[in-house]
Amino acid sequence: MTGKSKVLVSAPLAADLLARIEAEYEVIQLPSANVLRGATAGEYAEVIGWLTTVKQPVNESVLAALPALRTVSNYAVGYDNIDVAAATDRGVQICNTPGVLDDAVAALTVGAILNAVRGLSRAERFVRAGQWVAGNAFPLTTDVHGKTLGILGMGRIGKRVAPVAAALGMRVIYHNRTPIAGEVPGGAEYASRDELLATADVVVLLVPLTEATKGFIGAADFAAMKESAFFVNPARGALVDEDALIAALRSEAIAGAALDVTVVEPLPADSPLLELENVTLLPHIGSATVETRRAMAELAVDNLLDSLAGRTPKGAVND
Ligand code: DGY
Repeated sequence: MTGKSKVLVSAPLAADLLARIEAEYEVIQLPSANVLRGATAGEYAEVIGWLTTVKQPVNESVLAALPALRTVSNYAVGYDNIDVAAATDRGVQICNTPGVLDDAVAALTVGAILNAVRGLSRAERFVRAGQWVAGNAFPLTTDVHGKTLGILGMGRIGKRVAPVAAALGMRVIYHNRTPIAGEVPGGAEYASRDELLATADVVVLLVPLTEATKGFIGAADFAAMKESAFFVNPARGALVDEDALIAALRSEAIAGAALDVTVVEPLPADSPLLELENVTLLPHIGSATVETRRAMAELAVDNLLDSLAGRTPKGAVND
């Protein structure tokens, strides 16, 4: 018995960050998957704080297993794994890590755009498969400059992608529920959703996943895009009707896609996406750099300690 209050940690944390929590609380470390699935009644009855990842659903039944819980600090900016309304009803503060991963996710997004349009992954597979031989050139791709990038969901990450795309010679348009007042980075112009889908050569999805945005992009949206258009999703898989996307890629109703996220992660070995040549598949690595993950972990620990101490955390999702 330490006499300290208990905190669960089910995210990978460096020793110095763990030590910051241990200085004040008794830490129960768990693996970073769905750790509470098999929790026995009362096992975590005294836990007051929890630092976790997006792999862990935090729903009503999980919250019921943690009756003393006061704070969930998510080691991510997205918190679609958490039923925020249920947590709020129980007086549990939810925290996330906004801001510190914008540049990393924006860089990945630009890479994914270039990869999709210029066929970088396909070209690499071509070389490795020994197909680059005299008389067999890699098929021509298309230019990025002179094309239109359409950003659906112009938030912090979109505002970083837009000027880079503009520097590459792209015109940038965006759609949000409400146009942004004043100048938008990259000279991005507001477009209606329909106009954006119909005119963009590359459609990038940067909308947060909530109950309201599940299936935000479906068959009608792919049908509305140009046949030459590319679809890029660095946000969340469940924003998209994946069957409709697969059908659009298969029938070449759109030219291609680059996905850092899918509905089920890791992508199941029998996913039809794996059979398609016109899609770049990445393993949800938008924020996965040493520096960015460190910054996220530091903010997640700050949030946890601030919230439990009654200070306002930087990344407070609910009040
Ligand atoms: C986030 O922080 O939401 C990233 O997608 C990692 O899950």
